[in-house]
Amino acid sequence: MSNSAFTHRPRRLRRTPAIRRMVRETRLTPEDLVLPLFIVAGEGVVKPVPSMPGVAQLSIDAALPVARQAFEMGLGGIILFGIPKIKDSIGSDAVDPEGIVQRAIRAIKREVPELWVIADTCLCEYTDHAHCGVLKGHEVDNDATLEILGRAAVSYAEAGVDMVAPSGMMDHMVSAIRAALDRAGHSRIPILSYAVKYASAYYGPFRDAAENTPSFGDRRAYQMDPANRREALREAALDVEQGADWLMVKPGLAYMDILRELRDHFELPLAVYNVSGEYAMIKAAAANGWIDEPRVVLETLTGFKRAGADMILTYHALDAARWLLES
Ligand code: PBG
Ligand code: ZN
Repeated sequence: MSNSAFTHRPRRLRRTPAIRRMVRETRLTPEDLVLPLFIVAGEGVVKPVPSMPGVAQLSIDAALPVARQAFEMGLGGIILFGIPKIKDSIGSDAVDPEGIVQRAIRAIKREVPELWVIADTCLCEYTDHAHCGVLKGHEVDNDATLEILGRAAVSYAEAGVDMVAPSGMMDHMVSAIRAALDRAGHSRIPILSYAVKYASAYYGPFRDAAENTPSFGDRRAYQMDPANRREALREAALDVEQGADWLMVKPGLAYMDILRELRDHFELPLAVYNVSGEYAMIKAAAANGWIDEPRVVLETLTGFKRAGADMILTYHALDAARWLLES
């Protein structure tokens, strides 16, 4: 009698909300979430991004209440993307102490000092050709770009940023930034490396938001081929060696296997970027009444955490935090 085929019944632990809560393995909280903000020049600017309903480019003054809200909702932080008024071939605004992101960092840290502020560190929003580094002919010059990335990181640190996040997939970007920060006395500023960033069609809507569509070619000579898994481990290992404090996988949904793989191979905290195209797909389906937006969003974000993410960069951050606090 004892070894009946009917002994094991997983449904016993699913019967009531109370028991389901007790056996829940993954808990999503607002502090897991980081909200990306697009900062533009001007005053009183709130310019909606058509392909990303609910997202707008904001001037610094307009970003302040959003930053405050992010803090009050208990988000993990925000990540800033700057869209300067004037772009040039070397992305000068990215290293200018009076650049758009430097001014935004100072204003936000003055207004909400405890909010964790990350600066995306790349040149594509600042260069007139919109590639992620400086050009030599029609190619991105890796090592010439490193020097500028180092200067950008130092100037964000000087403006008061809490963490820099190099996203350009330049070889040795982490060691170059680490060395530049340390030389300038900023050894306590951590680096969140976009270590595994694929050349993805899911970035489409972001290019409207950040106005950084390359003027020629694409980013496949520096971002990774979506077909590659072993290369992701290699990229992550190199960034660990170079002193990265935190590793990112990007995009999220089509790359959950990579996230899990990194979780199993590395001890550093992990981040995932739930990118613009993933956001746009959910918003479009929800607008048509085809899906239940809050449930789909929370399920998706929980999936990232279950797959191994310690931090989720997502345009849903404020909505998701509100839904979590309400539930
Ligand atoms: C550029 C950058 C991109 C994103 C973040 N940083 C786009 C790109 O590589 O073209 C994409 C974010 C998103 O799609 O939400 N360094
Ligand atoms: Zn870039």
